[in-house]
Amino acid sequence: MSKPQPVHLSDYQPPAYRVTHTELTFDLDPASTRVEARLTIERHPEAAPNAPLFLNGEQLTLESLLLDDEPLAESAYQHDDKGLTVANVPAAFTLATRVRLAPEENTALEGLYQSSGMFCTQCEAEGFRRITFYPDRPDVMAVFRVTVIGDATREPVLLANGNPVERGELEGGRHFVTWEDPHPKPAYLFALVAGDLACVEDHFTTMNGREVTLQIWVEEENLGKTDHAMASLKRAMRWDEDSYGREYDLDRFMIVAVNDFNMGAMENKGLNIFNSAAVLTHPDTATDAAFQQVEGIVAHEYFHNWSGNRVTCRDWFQLSLKEGFTVFRDQSFSADTNSAPVKRIQDVAFFRTAQFAEDAGPTAHSIRPEHYIEITNFYTLTIYEKGAEVVRMLKNLVGWEAFRRGSDLYFERFDGQAVTIEDFVGCMAEASQQDLTQFMRWYHQAGTPEIDAHGEYDYVNAEYRLTLRQRTPMTPGQTHKQPLHIPVRMGLVGTKSGHDLTLTLDGEKRGKDTVIHLREAEQTFVFTDVAEAPTPSLLRNFSAPVKLHFPYSREDLAFLLTEDSDGFNRWEASQRLAMLALNDLIAAHRNGVEKVMDTRVIDAYRALLTAPVNDKAVLAEMLKLPSEACIAESQPLVDVDAIHAAREFVRQSLGFALRDEFMAVYTANVSSKAYAPTPEQIGQRSLKSVALAYLMAVEDEEAIERCQAQFDAGHNMTDVRQALTLLVHSSRDELAAPALKAFGEKWAHDSLVMDQWFSIQVSRPQEDVLERVKYLMQHPAFSLKNPNKVRALLGAFAQNRVNFHRLDGAGYALLADAVIELNRLNPEIAARLMTPLTRWRRFDDARQALMQAELERIKQEPLSANVYELVEKALA
Ligand code: TRP
Ligand code: ZN
Repeated sequence: MSKPQPVHLSDYQPPAYRVTHTELTFDLDPASTRVEARLTIERHPEAAPNAPLFLNGEQLTLESLLLDDEPLAESAYQHDDKGLTVANVPAAFTLATRVRLAPEENTALEGLYQSSGMFCTQCEAEGFRRITFYPDRPDVMAVFRVTVIGDATREPVLLANGNPVERGELEGGRHFVTWEDPHPKPAYLFALVAGDLACVEDHFTTMNGREVTLQIWVEEENLGKTDHAMASLKRAMRWDEDSYGREYDLDRFMIVAVNDFNMGAMENKGLNIFNSAAVLTHPDTATDAAFQQVEGIVAHEYFHNWSGNRVTCRDWFQLSLKEGFTVFRDQSFSADTNSAPVKRIQDVAFFRTAQFAEDAGPTAHSIRPEHYIEITNFYTLTIYEKGAEVVRMLKNLVGWEAFRRGSDLYFERFDGQAVTIEDFVGCMAEASQQDLTQFMRWYHQAGTPEIDAHGEYDYVNAEYRLTLRQRTPMTPGQTHKQPLHIPVRMGLVGTKSGHDLTLTLDGEKRGKDTVIHLREAEQTFVFTDVAEAPTPSLLRNFSAPVKLHFPYSREDLAFLLTEDSDGFNRWEASQRLAMLALNDLIAAHRNGVEKVMDTRVIDAYRALLTAPVNDKAVLAEMLKLPSEACIAESQPLVDVDAIHAAREFVRQSLGFALRDEFMAVYTANVSSKAYAPTPEQIGQRSLKSVALAYLMAVEDEEAIERCQAQFDAGHNMTDVRQALTLLVHSSRDELAAPALKAFGEKWAHDSLVMDQWFSIQVSRPQEDVLERVKYLMQHPAFSLKNPNKVRALLGAFAQNRVNFHRLDGAGYALLADAVIELNRLNPEIAARLMTPLTRWRRFDDARQALMQAELERIKQEPLSANVYELVEKALA
């Protein structure tokens, strides 16, 4: 195998040929599907007349090739494992190809494959080249006409993008449907689905009064699990009209649920394909978190219809152009639909754990990378989530109105085009008349910026001097970093009054909450007329994706926890306070000193638990301790055992000290109301779950009874799953084992519930987990070929910090074995599963050596480009 080669952004060349019309005919067969393509091609006016034509094509059997309906001589073209090159072609012509492929053998789930007997496609980013010979790049956009031929019994439903224009019977029990999509699109948005599917139908009237048919296609037995996705879709369509003025542009919008899918979902034009886990919900089978996830993903894919499809990416280096913007849009939608502060808190808690970890590891990259080997490795938290943070900063910098004008300008000016990040930011600069040159560095520079802040109150002059110093640590390939333009939203809270003080900066009155702009490596901001000594509330609502350090005392934090007018920063204070205590305990554990609980944390929690509650969901978030993964991100070197011990100690101390308060909260939030995924109910269940978790941390007898009762009552999956998790994670195996067994038997028929069953038991802290994982890999419900199963069992295991990082290295070896097997089956999933091993430099010497050895072992294999790229970076 030849070494996979990198692609560079700086090598971008516009295509010499464009395809205006693409006509495809699929004659479906699991072992040998025939694909005929008829492409209408034109040379670009500026391209050289002798420019060769290149068409991507991989793993295809070429049967025929005609140029303007004449067979091409074998000497007229070259065919290798990457595609076809035709040396001499006219300025305008048609090219007709016929190829064969075997969907049933496609375990990579890219291109055309089979999932639970149905045919489906996944073309982003470069899957279309496994379907037919084609210029498989997003800047080639064509109008598609697609005919799908299938078996009338096995594939009664035949779907593709756009509108059905013709259908009919064929001999041999076969039938066909022809679809036309009037909107020119790149190949990555092509989709086809064929199988025995049932559909739920609804309607939506657009802002201009057009009727749109909405369909969700699922396996018959799942018809009862589509209500929430449909309701979410309608809300999303309305929201995009109200917030961005974006109307849907076809007569029909379809969603299809498939069981085998590498990611969450895909925005194919008019025919979104979803991982069934991202569409199907029912109160008995899906948790509140799953309901919210479905709402967010349905909205995300729908929003891509404009941010991604109507205006698409010039090349894959621009991926964050569509993903960052679309994640920002789906986050805003969920914030508007649910509790805005909770949405922000949850997004930020996740971001700081997972994206910061990516930034601190060997695969750190900017949101517009300069080169890559395998593009599917770049569907990352940095591109998606940091990309969204950068769009959010843009919105905050220019203000919503200018941002909306910029967005309108972008969609109008570039409708039907494939564009760059500069085009997007350019529209924002034009609409707001602001200079965003320095801001563009966010797109080029990798790594998490850190801000060291300190402040001083001048009692004589009533001034507060705030000094901010920024630095971005080195990342692979980027040793020198420049200062970024960082918006810091803040307030000054009067330490006596507890009120936000009016801010005067450079003689200008700014109200009680303002944004200061840090542009230099170091800057001092002098606030005047500050009537009393303040406690600063910095980076409100996480106004920039940075780490902000300020020497807060525990008293400062306990104060902000209750007095900060910014809900997000009240939560932030709770997390910082817990971190101070955790850090002491981590040190105590390492030094073999007795652990002592900080009573100030207990007091702060008691105050929270006994004060009147306005938002239960926010309170629940404040009561949650930072996860072990989140704690790890704040440590210079990760001590797995000390972090676990410290966190358990805090959980138990709080559980003991506040037993009665937690019991009161638990009892007060038990409800017999019928389940609904409303923000109020979700908040209530979330608070109840947190209380039960603290009670179970000390295995209080009464708590165990309540927990068992909650499990047995089986009101909804949110309650059942939390109860089961707490039983299984407790030391009471005599309760855990029967509960697990009962749950497994009850839900053996429901694959998505079995995924939860796998995850819950391999996330527990007990030492039997590794043996359990090995045993469960043989379970009939498990399959390495199904990405959801791999994530539920092996992915969850790799998140189980104490067990994955066992000192005998058996956890690493197990993961490496799975990566080696998956490398052959599904390289994309193999690379994702391997990611925790690439972070080896963050751990102690013994673990470093063990992880490195597993990476070396993987490296000896014949590797896919995906795994190769990751191993190379990890060992560099
Ligand atoms: N564009 C999809 C999204 O963000 C992502 C996606 C779905 C994807 N399936 C994929 C990316 C397969 C790469 C490979 O919603
Ligand atoms: Zn997306």
